[in-house]
Amino acid sequence: MTVPSAAAGNVPALSIVDLTKRYSNGVEALKGVSLTVAPGDFFALLGPNGAGKSTLIGIISSLVNKTSGQVQVFGVDLSARRDAAMRLIGLVPQEINFNLFEKPFDILVNYAGFYGIPRRQAVPLAEDELKRAQLWDKAFLMSRTLSGGMKRRLMIARAMMTRPRLLILDEPTAGVDIEIRRGMWKTLKDINIAGTTIILTTHYLEEAESLCRNLAIINHGRIVQQGPMRTLLAQLDVEGFLFDIEGELPAQLPVIEGATLAAADPHTLDLDMPRAMDLTRVFEALAAAGIRVRSMRTKSNRLEELFVRLTAAPAATPTEVSA
Ligand SMILES: Nc1ncnc2c1ncn2[C@@H]1O[C@H](COP(=O)(O)OP(=O)(O)OP(=O)(O)O)[C@@H](O)[C@H]1O
Ligand SMILES: [Mg+2]
Repeated sequence: MTVPSAAAGNVPALSIVDLTKRYSNGVEALKGVSLTVAPGDFFALLGPNGAGKSTLIGIISSLVNKTSGQVQVFGVDLSARRDAAMRLIGLVPQEINFNLFEKPFDILVNYAGFYGIPRRQAVPLAEDELKRAQLWDKAFLMSRTLSGGMKRRLMIARAMMTRPRLLILDEPTAGVDIEIRRGMWKTLKDINIAGTTIILTTHYLEEAESLCRNLAIINHGRIVQQGPMRTLLAQLDVEGFLFDIEGELPAQLPVIEGATLAAADPHTLDLDMPRAMDLTRVFEALAAAGIRVRSMRTKSNRLEELFVRLTAAPAATPTEVSA
């Protein structure tokens, strides 16, 4: 079998072209997704419930059949060489799927055995992985007795047993408290620094911000945004204010170029504007329209709000942002 001719470092860890998925009940979960993840990257796939994240991950890890499109893992085509592609991937699924009546150590060694790794090799690997996951002291307890966070770490340790080049995690930290989440971030950062490409899905912007270099936002089966994290964050550099107004707002609000103005209620104005914009311009425009501001406050949860707005936008042409 020929290895892709390009230098190994240039072959994307994941290349997806025009992927679609229609489930048998007619749901179009993916409507033409194209995505490239560079080797060594830490990549976030963000999107609301039902966006298509798990479907996408299911297809990459051969659990779900695609309807059309192309998927390559380190240059290995998923349709043509499914087993070879699968050997490159470690998957941490959204739901806990190990046997709760097995011990962590056995779960890891048996998993390795399933992938053809002999026991004498698997045993020291399992010890390494359980130590990295801070689970070595639980190695020989019934895994049913592990906490929710420990169970998730165990799934990461299990996926690492085959030394995958691409580790895919589907909401690894869902429902996990912030302290444990931070611990898992550290584990994932270590794995990434040691050379494994990571893709994770998450609802938490904070998580993507803390871990990932690049991201794609998926909504209703389409990529609505993709590019470097810092470019998105720069774009999120919008400030939101609420103005309490004396009297009632006029029916026609003034237009302020570059800013968005809306009535939150008859006495409250909602303003979004780029951070660099001068507030004086806003006050001048309001005064000219006969609107008198009594007080103003900053809107909280700016990031979440913008994320919601991005994913609420009609899924039109995907925006490719460059570094
Ligand atoms: N096995 C299935 N059969 C039919 N429809 C499905 C199936 N799995 C998912 N879907 C539908 O496909 C769409 C995408 O679901 P998917 O699970 O990929 O979303 P998600 O982004 O992972 O959501 P969440 O954040 O809630 O996990 C949804 O409309 C869902 O109802
Ligand atoms: Mg999901």
